[in-house]
Amino acid sequence: MPRVVIDNQEVEVVAGSNLLAAARKLGLDIPALCYHPACEPNTACMACVVRLKNSGGIVPSCATPAEDGVQIESETDEVRALRRTALELLLSEHCFTSPEARASANPSASGVPAVAGWPDCQCLKSDVCRLRKYALLYAADPARYPGRQRTNRVREEHPEITYDSGKCILCGICVQLSAQGDERLSLSFVGRGFELRVDPPLGATLDQALEITARRVAGACPTGALAPRKDR
Ligand code: SF4
Ligand code: FES
Repeated sequence: MPRVVIDNQEVEVVAGSNLLAAARKLGLDIPALCYHPACEPNTACMACVVRLKNSGGIVPSCATPAEDGVQIESETDEVRALRRTALELLLSEHCFTSPEARASANPSASGVPAVAGWPDCQCLKSDVCRLRKYALLYAADPARYPGRQRTNRVREEHPEITYDSGKCILCGICVQLSAQGDERLSLSFVGRGFELRVDPPLGATLDQALEITARRVAGACPTGALAPRKDR
């Protein structure tokens, strides 16, 4: 079995593993937002980077094989600063929901404690959103890269889940999982450039696109973009 060295600690992994799995085996909590074990890695977030000690290269740990003899740095100040930048770039496009908007849209949504100095999103998955979790852990500043925010297209026609494109990080997990799930339509990437988004194709509704896999994709979505309904 291959052995890799992470921050001077050796770990043995199953052949075919990636560096993210090796790091997790050592108990390291790398912010891998766009990775899902059932999906092909698409390296959309770049929050999981590590440094290869041999070449000096910076690589996404989710998409880099854990080959025998590889040595990497994971928890150095430099690598953590790069991850913080990746998180801040994701936050720069993120469309936050104000508590007032959330309350009027879904009065039964449970309140989530506000964090001092950090926008209180109050979306339906504030308690489990991985972008929020790692942004807090890495002290990411949502205002560091001010710019255009993603368009907030909210879909509430599905009986089990809701979709808010303003919180999507384009990881593609929902696209891959719904395509694997024998849906008649499934979700697709739609649009171009900054307007690229995930949506049902061909003008279909969310309930037509996700007849089988709605709860699975909502659970796997790393943010509050796809979320189980709490009002039904
Ligand atoms: S809706 Fe969620 S799972 Fe789908 S691409 Fe966006 S962030 Fe990823
Ligand atoms: S989890 Fe590796 S690039 Fe997103």
